[in-house]
Formats: sequence, C-alpha cells, structure tokens
Amino acid sequence: MELEQALEEAKSILTDFDHLVRAVLSGRRRNMETPALRIDIRPVQLKSGRFLQVMSNDGIRTTTKNYSPGDGEVISLLTSGFANILAESTEQSLSIRITKKGEALVNISQVTKEQNLSHDRTKARLLDPSDPFLIEVGISDRDGKLKPSRQDKFMQVEEFLRIMVPTLNNAISAGQIPQPTFDQPLRIVDLGCGHAYLTFAAHQYLRAQGIPVHVLGIDIREESRKRNIEIAQALGISDSIEFRAEEISATKDTQVDIAIALHACDTATDDALAWAVTNEAKLILSAPCCHHDIQAQLSKAPEPWNLVVRHGLLKERLGDILTDALRVHILKLLGYRSETIEFVGDQHTPRNLMIRAVKTKAKPESNEIEQYQSMISSWNVHPALAKRLSANLAEVGVK
Ligand SMILES: C[S@@+](CC[C@H](N)C(=O)[O-])C[C@H]1O[C@@H](n2cnc3c(N)ncnc32)[C@H](O)[C@@H]1O
Repeated sequence: MELEQALEEAKSILTDFDHLVRAVLSGRRRNMETPALRIDIRPVQLKSGRFLQVMSNDGIRTTTKNYSPGDGEVISLLTSGFANILAESTEQSLSIRITKKGEALVNISQVTKEQNLSHDRTKARLLDPSDPFLIEVGISDRDGKLKPSRQDKFMQVEEFLRIMVPTLNNAISAGQIPQPTFDQPLRIVDLGCGHAYLTFAAHQYLRAQGIPVHVLGIDIREESRKRNIEIAQALGISDSIEFRAEEISATKDTQVDIAIALHACDTATDDALAWAVTNEAKLILSAPCCHHDIQAQLSKAPEPWNLVVRHGLLKERLGDILTDALRVHILKLLGYRSETIEFVGDQHTPRNLMIRAVKTKAKPESNEIEQYQSMISSWNVHPALAKRLSANLAEVGVK
C-alpha cells in the first residue's frame, strides 16, 4: 500500500470517534523533526463532552491536551514527521512504518477491541507482580502479590523500563543500535546491580517483547552474584543472563549496547558512566545515588554563592546538582546527546533523577568546552568522572 493511502486509512480510524481505540505515533522519519518523542491519542468522555486526548511525551514529561473529535490539529499529527503510526479501532489495527526511503510498510489486522472512554485510566503496568521473576527476587510474595516493603523498588524498576524501552526503540529506528537478532542479541550491562531487580526486569521484559537480549549484572559483592545466579538458574535463563562479582572499573571483555545503573552508590555512578563511555555503550541510563564527591570540594564557592553554601542542606543539594550537571556535560563533550530526566515520582525515592545519554559521536563545540572549563575553575572542583575520563577529555581538547 502506498504511504498516502495508508495515511488516509489512519485518518479514517482517527476521525471515527465511535470506534477509535487509540493511536500511537513514535520514531522520527529521516531528516524530519517531530513535535514530541511519542504521542498517544485516545478518545475520552468528560462531563463537558467527548474529546480526543493527546498525550505528548518529550522524553522528560508527558503533557496532555484535549481536542474536539476530528480537530485538524490532531489529524495533522499523522504527517508531522513520525516514522511509526499505530491506529486502532474496535475492529481494526493498522500499523505503518515509514522507512528511511520514505516507503510505507503497512500491516492491517482484524481485531476485537473495546473502547475505554474513562478519563483517568490508571497507567498500564509493564510488569505483572505475579511474574515468577518478581517472586524469585523477593519483590512479590509467593502468592504473586507485591510486598508492601518492596513497592517502591518495584515502581523504580518499572519506571526505569518505561523510559528505557522507547529510548531503545528510537535508537534502533535511528540506526544507533542494530536490530537485535538471536545471533547478535541486545547487550545490556547493569553496573552495581545489587539484588538485580532491574537486571532481571530488563531481561524478562525485553524477552517477553520478542527482543533477543543478553544481560550482564556487575556488583562488587560476591553474595549478590551467588544469589543472582541461583535465581537465574531457578528461572531457567542462565544462558542469557550473567553475573560477575567485581569492581565496575575492572569489568573487561564485555560488549555493550545499553549501560544501566540504578543507584550505584556515590562515585560508583562515575565508575559506571566512565565504564560505559570507555566501552562505547550506545545508550546510557543511570539514576545516581548519594553524591559526596563534589560536595566535599565545595568549601570555596565562587562569590556570591557563599550565600548558598553556608547552609548545610543547601550546600548538599547544590552539590548534587553540580555533580549531575557536570556528569551530563562531560558525556556531551564525549559525543553523547545527554540530559537529566525525573524517572519516577519522588514518593518512591528521593533519588529520582536519571541521566540519559545517547551516543551520537557529535564533536563538542568550542563554547561547550569553554563552559565546562569555566564551571570547574570557578568552583575549583575536580569531578570524579573527569578524573576517570581524563584521557578522553584531553582528546576532545579539554585541558
Ligand atoms: C544502592 S545499591 C543498588 C543496587 C541495585 N542497582 C538496585 O537498585 O537495587 C548499590 C550497589 O552498587 C554496588 N557497588 C558499589 N560500588 C561498586 C563498584 N565500584 N563496583 C561494583 N559494584 C559496586 C554495591 O555493592 C551495591 O550492591
């Protein structure tokens, strides 16, 4: 089917309010900009009438806006640069993938789906609490119910995946990560994996999505390795999940597409980021833990910042912000498109910032190098990450 005809089909599903179930727009067409990273559209019934709810995610947060059914602005989203379009009605599912050459790969299937017009549908779960891996790792009890004491960890892991999966899909669409195959599975390394809640979750979730994957968990603690290996054996997945007890910096001979780290303590996050850069990870997702490195160096703040750092609590918070700002900027200087995102609500952990970085190999601009140098010299700080990556930074011209 030609692209134009496929888009007409999608439009007719989107404008048939009585049968529309949802539409999802994602990925970016070659040489085109999209208004968001992903857009979800669905019909809703509010007190004031029927609307199309458009949820736009820019990779950091989701904004929601309601439009009248058939609104031209919503329809124009179909041609706003997205490479993947899914339009579902109660009877039909249409998926369009627009190739780099601008051709449409179209799939239409007959389905039986129900409309759900309620306004505040709860977020669909990615992980089923009764999944055997959640029972084995101790997040759920033997009846498959989430343990109240583990609820926050469950949310952290699930929300981490909620960011990882579209970031991965985009990286695959953009050719930054090759399409995983059984011969060349997606390689994920979890640095500072501890009890491996995220490690197992990434493995099980991606495998359930049909993505061939190999996951390696690194933690310095031998007892974690032993425990995790036993769990992998109990789940029958030892062929594609591996654990090593070693320092992150000592981890060798490892291929990696995605480096992940959830709450690697203090400068272990710097070890994880440095390891990911050195091993040329294409994606890095790291939610830092406590920060002591820069904080301890903040005795002489440039004026007038003493106004802030003389207050212990504010100094601590500023130390966190400076640490992560410098981490993100160092990644940028070293060829990553990097940013900070809030990955989970702060009711589930105060450590809810994630550094997300996608390798683009872009060379830094001279003003970006100057900005970095001016920041570290005015604060007189030496970030742990810069020490670990000093040779890489020197290569791009950082003195
Ligand atoms: C706070 S725990 C987080 C564990 C897990 N990622 C989670 O979210 O449940 C941090 C883990 O990092 C490990 N760790 C700290 N420094 C490390 C290093 N330099 N190399 C390897 N593992 C390290 C610790 O042993 C600990 O298990």
